[in-house]
This record gives sequence, C-alpha cells and structure tokens, in this order.
Amino acid sequence: ISQLLFEGIRNLEYRGYDSAGVAIEGATSPQVVRARGKLAALEERLKTAPAPGTVGIGHTRWATHGKPSDENAHPHTAGGVSVVHNGIIENHLALREALEAQGRVFESETDTEILAHLVDIEVQAGQGLAEAVRGALTQVEGAYALACIATDQPGVVVAAKLASPMVVGLGEGEQFLASDIPALLAHTREVIFMEDGELAVLTRQGVTLQTLAGDPVQRPPKTVPWTVQEAEKGGYEHFMIKEIHEQPRAVTDTLAGRFSLERAAVFLDEVTITPAQARAIRRIYVLACGTSWHAGLVGRLLIERFARIPTEVDLAHEFRYRDPIVDEQTLVLGISQSGETADTLASLKEAKRRGARVVSIVNVMDASIARMSDDVVYTHAGIEIGVASTKAFTAQLAALTLLALHLGRQLEHLDEAATRAQLTSLSALPTLMQGVIDATNEQTRELAKKYLKAKNFLFLGRGMNFPIALEGALKLKEISYVHAEGYAAGEMKHGPIALIDEHMPVVVVATQGSHYDKIMGNLQEAKARDGRIIAIGTAGDDRIAELADDVVLVPDVDNAYQPLLTVLPLQLFAYHMARLLGTDVDQPRNLAKSVTVE
Ligand code: M6R
Repeated sequence: ISQLLFEGIRNLEYRGYDSAGVAIEGATSPQVVRARGKLAALEERLKTAPAPGTVGIGHTRWATHGKPSDENAHPHTAGGVSVVHNGIIENHLALREALEAQGRVFESETDTEILAHLVDIEVQAGQGLAEAVRGALTQVEGAYALACIATDQPGVVVAAKLASPMVVGLGEGEQFLASDIPALLAHTREVIFMEDGELAVLTRQGVTLQTLAGDPVQRPPKTVPWTVQEAEKGGYEHFMIKEIHEQPRAVTDTLAGRFSLERAAVFLDEVTITPAQARAIRRIYVLACGTSWHAGLVGRLLIERFARIPTEVDLAHEFRYRDPIVDEQTLVLGISQSGETADTLASLKEAKRRGARVVSIVNVMDASIARMSDDVVYTHAGIEIGVASTKAFTAQLAALTLLALHLGRQLEHLDEAATRAQLTSLSALPTLMQGVIDATNEQTRELAKKYLKAKNFLFLGRGMNFPIALEGALKLKEISYVHAEGYAAGEMKHGPIALIDEHMPVVVVATQGSHYDKIMGNLQEAKARDGRIIAIGTAGDDRIAELADDVVLVPDVDNAYQPLLTVLPLQLFAYHMARLLGTDVDQPRNLAKSVTVE
C-alpha cells in the first residue's frame, strides 16, 4: 500500500506540502514513515525504510499547530492507533492537559496527536475501532476529516468528518478514502462524499456509513466526471501554465449548453429563483476569498449592469464576524473553486441562518459549499491543481456573466435584442482568449526578463479592470514572492503615488471603453513621476504605445468582457517571473490550494 498511498498524497500535495507521512498496518505496531519538507523527502525515506502491508493511511500537511518538522508530520500514533487529520481541534489545550495528567506522553506539538490518544484509550478499553473513534469524538470540539487505523484491529480504516472534506472511493476488493478527488482517480471514479457528522468504516469488502450516533446512512455513489489525465501535466512544465492554456476550454465548457443565441435565452436551470422571487431580492452579497473574491468584484459590476440589483462584495472572513444585515430578501452568492474554503463556507452558513437564499458558483462537484447552497452553478474548469488559481477564475467570470444575464432577463432589464448582443459577445470570448494567450506568452516572458530585478510592482485598473489589477498583483506575489499591490487607479493620488519613482514598474490595465480617458490620465501621472509603465491596452491604440514603456495588446471587446482577456497576460507575466526567479510555481511557499481551516 505504501506506493499507492504515496501516489495518492502526491496528487494531493497541492493542498499542503510542508511535511508528509504514512502509517501502514504492522504485525505488532504501525509502521510509520514521516519526513519534513516536500514529498521527495518522504519518497527517499520510503526507499530506505520500505513499509510492507495492504492497509494504511497517509497525509501531506499544511501546518496549523506546530511548525513543519518530522515530529509534527502526520500520521500521529499512540499505542497501536495511528491518525491523520485535517482541520483544527479547538479544545486541544484542555484535552492535552487532561491526557498528560493521566500519564500520556506527547511527541508532537500538534492538535492531532490528541485524537490518537483519545482513540487509543477507547481501544484499550475494548472498543471496536468505529466505537473508539466515536467515543473520542464526543470529547472533541472543532473541525476534522480524519482517518484512523489500529494494530489490533487489522483490515479496518475508520474515517470521520466534520467541516473538513472527505470522500470515499469505491473499488472491488479494495476501498479508498481521501480529502480530495485527485487522490482517487487512478483507482476509481465511483465516490461517496461524506457529510458532516458521519463516520465511515472501510474494509476490503466494502464501506459502511453511519452517523456519529451510530445510525446507518445509505447514500448512493456518484461518478466523478474528471479523468486521470486532467490531474497530470500533459507535457507542460508546470500545472499553472497548463491551466493558463486550458482557459479557452474552461470558459467554453462553462458556457456550453447554458445559452441559445437563436432564442436569446440563458438556460441556468440549476438556479431555481422564479421571476417573482427575483423581483423580491433587495440586495445581493457576494462572498469569497482570494482570487474568487476578485471574480466577485467583477461579478458585482456585471450584476449591477445587467440585472440592476444593488450588490456588495465581501471577504468571507470579514463578513462572518461583523453581524451582517441579511434577511429573506437578500440573495447571497458564494464563489469558490474548491467549494471547501472554510471562511467562505462559514459565511454562507451564517447568511443562510439569517434567512438569505444561497446561490454558489463552485468548481469541485459536490463540495461542501455546493451541498449547502440552495442553488449551484458549476464552473466546468476541470481539476485545478496549481495553487495560483487561473482557469477557475475565468470560468467563474463566465458563470457570473451568465447569472447576471439570467437575472437581467428575468427582471426585464434586458430585452431580446440586448440579450442576444451580449450572448454573441460572450460566445466569441474563448477564441479571443486563445488568441491572447498565443500572442502574449512569449511577449510576457520577455517582459519578465526585463523587469526581473524589480522588487515592487504597482497594478492599476478602473471599473471592470480594477479587480484585474488586484488579481495581477496577487498572482505575482503568491508565486514569485515579489511585492505587488493592486489599486483602483483613481486612488493613486490619495497616497500610493508617493511610491512611484524610476524603480517602480507600474502595470496599467488601460483598455478602451468607458474608463479609458480616466485611466490614461492615471497612466500619465505615473509616467510623469518616472514610473516604468507596462500597459495592457486595446489593439489599435497608438496613443498608449507612445506613452508606455511596454505595451501588451488585447482585442477590443465590450467592458463587461475585458477581464476575461486582460487577466491573461497578467497571469502569464506572473508565471514567467516566478519561473525565471526559480520559485516553486505550483506549490509556492506557505500556501495551500484549499484553505480548509479558518
Ligand atoms: O477554493 P477557493 O476559490 O474558495 O479559494 C479561495 C482562495 O484561497 C484562492 O483563490 C487563493 O487566493 C488562490 N491561491 C489565488 O491564486
């Protein structure tokens, strides 16, 4: 099993990658192999200390409690019990003190080791593994997706889930368990998503689900649409560049079957809001984090333009703690690639508790956010593995456009001709995106070489391109570790312009449209202070070419669709900077793909 476990966690490495380990059932005690650092370190240890066996658990960690080290790597073991765990045990300090008072000795600083001791105590009292896990969990507060094995109960793996994702994979004569689907794809596409408060018992023969109270649960499996190939690099050097190139396809698939030009209609059957209910919406809150929040900022402008509903966008972690004003007339829109971001999930639950209807835009099928939402619009970007989100973002923009047009049509702010005109523009986007990627890949590589020594960057935009300035800056900082800030260009003279001198590259997203003259004013202000200007402009704009030090051109499209084009050279620029600087593009330091802890 050790090779299979290793391959599984390799496919999950994007979720966390500061240490890793496996525990494999042994005759008298679990065989535990762990190593600090990337998976290569564990691979080396497994070569020198192979652990034979057919039942085991593995984990790749993103540190919450306790720094990355061999001792803090999972699995954690107490007696014959080994545990891997995602989430946070909130009452770990009190539990640890109580266990130490009973003579239990801890080897790590983690909250997870407590679980191993609690289960071991139950096992030593004669409980079966499922009962032991259940007993342990009655004492625990917090979030967990955990898996557990015990030496004296061979052939069994017990898993439990609360607020962190866990999925069971069904095989023949073999069963699987993982926190995300890519770990399972090489073995099965038949899966059961565990729900909060559930326990799964896996043996070679099959899987039984039950509640924490012990009541049996029946849930038919689902077939995952993703393939193993999607989880591989397919000849590209990094997942990120592969995923950048996949964007025209991701947008095409997200739009596919969801509109008709002939009938000037949007088909978002998954959104069950009736026209009467749409008329009753007083306000929309968009909740998300990171890149998905940037998509939300674009979404606000799309919804206000096409559907004329007042829309606010909030960072999920701010919203959930500020006693938000939400009621039955509020529509809350959650956006998340993974569908598992803890803050986004919690903020949506809070909004729902206060009476709001929750619609979500999610990429991962059946993820927690999708399951708790009243309606889900799936993006069809495919598996996104690079930690820096790219294709999920543009697929989110496509889904948001459809949603805004759908609501606009329902509320009769768009007539047939206007809807058809928008859908015509939208349907042309994938081809234009392909053209931009082809035309700017090499050019942005050259730009990266030219600006490689810069220590700081400013990104400026207005209107639809303000969120793109934020996104361009986020992409650059998260993968190349170069400091970058995104600003609404109009804000410059309220402070940040003081930063500009001949050492400061300023990326200005200055495409033609309603904000053109204003942003060109901001570009000139930056130039007048000796800033080195990299402009993202519209093809045919000679004026911008004269003013900027470097220009990257994209085709002329309606304001609403510019973000789908202007973000592409910024993603590519960040990628080439990171690659030339030699950082770990797909697994940048300190980050994890899904942030499943608060
Ligand atoms: O899975 P989500 O869309 O909810 O994730 C939200 C953010 O964690 C994510 O977009 C993050 O900011 C990315 N690293 C950005 O590239």
